[in-house]
Parts: sequence; structure tokens; C-alpha cells
Amino acid sequence: MFSVHKAVFPVAGIDTRFLPATKSSPKEMLPIIDKPLIQYAVEEAIAAGITELIFVTGRGKRVIEDHFDKSYEVEHVLMARGMQNLVEIVQDVMPRHAKCVYVRQAEPLGLGHAVLCAQKLIGDEPFAVVLADDLLEGQPPVLEQMIHLFSHYDCSVLAVEEFESSEAPDHGVIDGRHWDERVISVSGIVEKPAPENAPSNYGIAGRYVLMPGIFEHLRPVRPDAQGQIHLTPAIDSMLKDEQVLGYEFVGTRYDCGTKLGYLKATVDFALHHKEVRDPFGAWLHSRVGDVRG
Ligand code: G1P
Repeated sequence: MFSVHKAVFPVAGIDTRFLPATKSSPKEMLPIIDKPLIQYAVEEAIAAGITELIFVTGRGKRVIEDHFDKSYEVEHVLMARGMQNLVEIVQDVMPRHAKCVYVRQAEPLGLGHAVLCAQKLIGDEPFAVVLADDLLEGQPPVLEQMIHLFSHYDCSVLAVEEFESSEAPDHGVIDGRHWDERVISVSGIVEKPAPENAPSNYGIAGRYVLMPGIFEHLRPVRPDAQGQIHLTPAIDSMLKDEQVLGYEFVGTRYDCGTKLGYLKATVDFALHHKEVRDPFGAWLHSRVGDVRG
């Protein structure tokens, strides 16, 4: 039986939806309350037992490396001010047992290409892919749920969720047959189809556990009309050789790649944040009254 120790975080993409906020700062560093999106993704991976974090970075993404690095200067200042609780928060950004590795994707050529850039670091073992702009809230964390399923079936697992058919052009969409309530045996997968061509209402939700066999199917994938090398066609091709499962995770997905999803995540997380939930809840309540009125 395999276990999963490595996760790939593709963070080289250029964001257009949050400009100008993301002109010089990566979208993965946008905060939900007080933590950047990438940190939520890393925490989910660590909770799932991942010990090697592979960031596929690009131009202007240094700040992500700095975020996960030890910051002697900040710790020193906080210590001098007697702010021990904040020192711990800063130190806990990356647990000591985890290892971070960075690989550059010279051009933002798509998710499939980003995963290929990590091939040498992954070698011949299964691995996770975590897209930080999909913020997934679940208990147990969604990647842990997926790795659990993976260890049971020894095959690739894709997190999926049901969506409105009009949203098909935003997702990789699977075709398949339910094995049980949450597990779908995938028979096909298409990247962002028109609603009338979507094979189902199940879309991929930014978490993958993949067998290393994916690499031989990724290499032949050609760029689409926008020059993007997608991961989806490689998974579709892998279906000829291997079982792939879709897993309807238990939890909530916030699509923080869109303004609306980002706002929803901010509000929901604020309503659970011990420092602000009460005053924010009261304020929101009064605001909703105003909006209704
Ligand atoms: C990527 C994938 C897509 C998947 C989506 C999940 O698209 O290509 O298959 O459904 O992530 O968020 P992106 O949102 O990066 O355009």
C-alpha cells in the first residue's frame, strides 16, 4: 500500500481577477482575515500527513518563500516587545518536521505544466496537488479525507462537487458512475466544457491525489488555444491504464479565485474567528437589516 508524503502547490499563475491587488503580490497571499490563502492550503496538507511541500513558483512569488521561511527579524522584535503569543503564531506558519522545496515554472503555462515541473522532486510515488485559491473547509480536512480513500483503493482520487450546469465552463468536469454515495468511478474528464457538452454536474474542486503514472500522460499534452497545458487531459488519458475516483468531499468549497467566493470565505471565516466573530456578527446582522430595508 502507498502513502502520500508530498504535495505540489502550483503558485506561478498570473492572476487577472484581483487586479490591481495582485499586480505585484501573488493572489495566494491574499488574506482571509489574518492568514494568506496559501497558508490555509499548507495547513490542510500538513494535517493530512504531508511532510514535503513542493511550491511551483514563478516571477514575483518570492514573498511566498519568505512567508514560509524563518523570520529572525520579526521574531526578535516581537520577543523584545514581550509578545510571546505572536512569536508562536509566526513560528507555527511552518512546522519544523515539514520540508519546503521550491521549483520555478519559467512561464505560467498552465496547471499540467506546473505539475510536470515538479516531476523530478516527486519521483515515483503518489502525490497531492493543492490549488490554494480553492479554500476547502472540512472536518477532517478534505485532503485527509481523500488520502484516506486513496489508501483504501490505491488509485488516484479527485475532489469533486456538484455545480449548476451553467458553471461547467469554470471546471474540469467528470463523467462516471457512482460506486457509493460519495465515490464516483471516473470514465472521462473534460476541461471547462460548454454547459451543453458537460458530461455531468460534477466538477473538480482543486484537490488531487495522483499516481506517478500521470507524468507519462502529461508529457504529450499540447497547449490549448491560450497556450495552457492542462492537467485534465492527462487524467483523461490515464483512465486508459488506471482507475481514477471522484470523491464528493464532506465540507465547503470557497472559490477564492473569484471576488464573490473570496467575500463569502471572508464572511464565513470572520463569523468563526474568536477575535472578531461577536462584534462582526452583530455588525453584519445590523447591515443585513439595512440591505433588506
Ligand atoms: C483548475 C483546473 C480545473 C478545476 C479548477 C478547480 O482551473 O484546470 O479543472 O476544476 O482548477 O478550481 P482554474 O480554476 O485554475 O482555471
